[in-house]
Amino acid sequence: MTLLDGKELSAKIKEEVKVEVSALVDEKHITPGLAVILVGSDAASATYVASKAKACKNAGIYSVVHEMPDSITQEELLETIAMMNKNPKLDGILVQLPLPKHIDTTVVLEAIDPLKDVDGFHPYNVGRMVSNLDSFLPATPFGVMRMFQEYGIELSGKNVVVIGSSDIVGKPMASLLTNAKATVTVCNSRTKDLAAHTKAADIVVIAVGVPLMLKGDMLKDGAVVIDVGINRLDTGKLVGDADFEDCKDKCTHITPVPGGVGPMTIAMLLKNTVKAATLREKRESK
Ligand code: GUN
Repeated sequence: MTLLDGKELSAKIKEEVKVEVSALVDEKHITPGLAVILVGSDAASATYVASKAKACKNAGIYSVVHEMPDSITQEELLETIAMMNKNPKLDGILVQLPLPKHIDTTVVLEAIDPLKDVDGFHPYNVGRMVSNLDSFLPATPFGVMRMFQEYGIELSGKNVVVIGSSDIVGKPMASLLTNAKATVTVCNSRTKDLAAHTKAADIVVIAVGVPLMLKGDMLKDGAVVIDVGINRLDTGKLVGDADFEDCKDKCTHITPVPGGVGPMTIAMLLKNTVKAATLREKRESK
């Protein structure tokens, strides 16, 4: 069994990003910039945002964290995004999700300039991704695809089951796998006999937020398990959506939690920010 080590791989990607940033600064005289908007006081979101800002700093990317209280109106948020769309120092704009209930997430995501949409959540980028055109890819599925590539896991012709159909992970994951010529099944909480699907899968990607849901007896021998979940048990322990100890002996490859998919997400966000800056420089130099 091979552990898919996201900690190690993300460190390698962050080094790549550093080199790319240095080249942009030295040769093109531009510094990539990222704005992260954090609305409200959700503790998990605040932690993620702090990690994103720190990773930018380490990579030489200029970053601003714009904190706004829960009480802001949708209009105020949209005005902030409009300002950032115009700000030439900012190549990427990311609105940390989830947003408070009184704010319409779709309207907010559509307000971001698609050329600065480093999360890849704007319908323009979603459409381009589905059509297999160049776009910003959502960071988590992008990171999982990079993991497959780095560990030489073939996708063409493979049966892949994606459990979870969120806009952030499950749906874009399924699109990227489809474009890679996998045979993709997307399951959700209404799926009848989930185990019948997973037992037929060469690769299972799970992103549901239910601790330890995927068990070894749901897998075929030689499966690959990608666990996007990160859940804190009452004991304080962090676990994935897959029961790692129960699954590992069935697997040729499996991601640990923590240290699997999680660290890849921020690394790919940095990649997207450098891509945004590179594309801007190309447009401006024409
Ligand atoms: N909340 C959970 N994951 C993400 C993500 O990838 N991007 C943003 N903006 N918010 C999130």
